[in-house]
Amino acid sequence: MDSWSKQHIRQKTEPQNDARQYLQDDTGSAHIIEVLKINKSFGSTQVLKDITFYIRNNEFITLLGPSGCGKSTTLRILAGFEQPDSGDVFFNGQSLLRIPPYKRQVNTVFQRYALFPHLNVYDNIAFGLSIKKIAKDEIRSRIGQALKTVDLEGYADRWIDQLSGGQMQRVAIARAIVNKPKVLLLDEPLGALDLKMRKEMQIELKDMQRSLGITFVYVTHDQEEALTMSDTIIVMKEGRIQQIGTPTDIYNEPRNAFVADFIGESNIISGRMSDDYIVTFAGRTFTCIDKRFPDEDVDVVIRPEDIQMTSPTDNTINGVVTSVVFKGVHYEMLVASGTYEWMIQSTDRYEEGSAVGLTFDPEDIHVMAKSDDSPDRRKPDKPADGLNTEGVDNW
Ligand SMILES: Nc1ncnc2c1ncn2[C@@H]1O[C@H](COP(=O)(O)OP(=O)(O)OP(=O)(O)O)[C@@H](O)[C@H]1O
Ligand SMILES: [Mg+2]
Repeated sequence: MDSWSKQHIRQKTEPQNDARQYLQDDTGSAHIIEVLKINKSFGSTQVLKDITFYIRNNEFITLLGPSGCGKSTTLRILAGFEQPDSGDVFFNGQSLLRIPPYKRQVNTVFQRYALFPHLNVYDNIAFGLSIKKIAKDEIRSRIGQALKTVDLEGYADRWIDQLSGGQMQRVAIARAIVNKPKVLLLDEPLGALDLKMRKEMQIELKDMQRSLGITFVYVTHDQEEALTMSDTIIVMKEGRIQQIGTPTDIYNEPRNAFVADFIGESNIISGRMSDDYIVTFAGRTFTCIDKRFPDEDVDVVIRPEDIQMTSPTDNTINGVVTSVVFKGVHYEMLVASGTYEWMIQSTDRYEEGSAVGLTFDPEDIHVMAKSDDSPDRRKPDKPADGLNTEGVDNW
């Protein structure tokens, strides 16, 4: 099956008559959680719209989207802190909606840790177990194990205010996994850490998920974090799912301009497919590998790292370099051509003001259906003043 069909099966943005069909899984894997047509409003504002997706057993799945798109609300519904207005949530095939939070086999790690400052590390982790009336020896052994998992052996007697941000985060995770949940819900758990600590914790969390063998549902608005850690990413916008897929699917085959733009740097240009495998944009006609939109206006996305720069020729998109920024590994350059300004990432440096030609391979042209987010951005009316525009494409 090609990647489009696979994605299409997992794609559940528009549940129709029988939303259950969107819970079909071509791999036959067990689904620990199924979310079916969830709607939720606060007052007159609908914040979740027909949310439908499944979570496979032992999967690392990430809800990704901008602030306010409904990620935390979705997570809170899974945890049981919030009830949907309509729709259902199934855990191993059983509806969860009447099950109170403390009886669900899920635990949440919150962004601000929610640790008790007046208790030490041990008592913070023990808190949930003590109220469940678990025997003292069992508690001691489970906490020992949890502290080992989060790499905090020897910290049991420390006070919370004697810990670094990263250590507090580990205590919060230990407190959640000590309950032996089947599913761990993590709401922006690394949001308060500095970049270096974030990166370290990303790797550790992923390792932890593998060694614990449990399902992680992770919330973030950081696309790089989502791409690095997840088996599956659910991209959300304004309460609606935009795309569900593996990090590679989402990056290479974004379903619309919103996803393309949200997941990394993109050149998104309006175009038209006159026939299968033929697309026109930037005033030129190209061969591509898509065949879904015959004679239709489309959006075309080309990633900055997929564009090669050469001397201008009759067969290249021709423009002039308007900006060059060194980014460590590569240069990021803007090239004005016609009404569009292309972003290119390359290890070769071209001077500002130089005339260049742009080329790319057919497989790097990705064609998408038009959507609300179709671009009219990054389009200066004319090339920047004072530049030599001779030989530059005008379209
Ligand atoms: N209890 C509530 N009462 C009223 N409105 C709420 C409540 N909880 C959330 N909202 C609103 O619902 C929308 C979705 O909120 P949610 O917290 O799910 O977003 P989010 O994707 O987690 O955003 P962020 O990345 O900022 O955490 C927002 O507009 C928010 O203001
Ligand atoms: Mg949130």
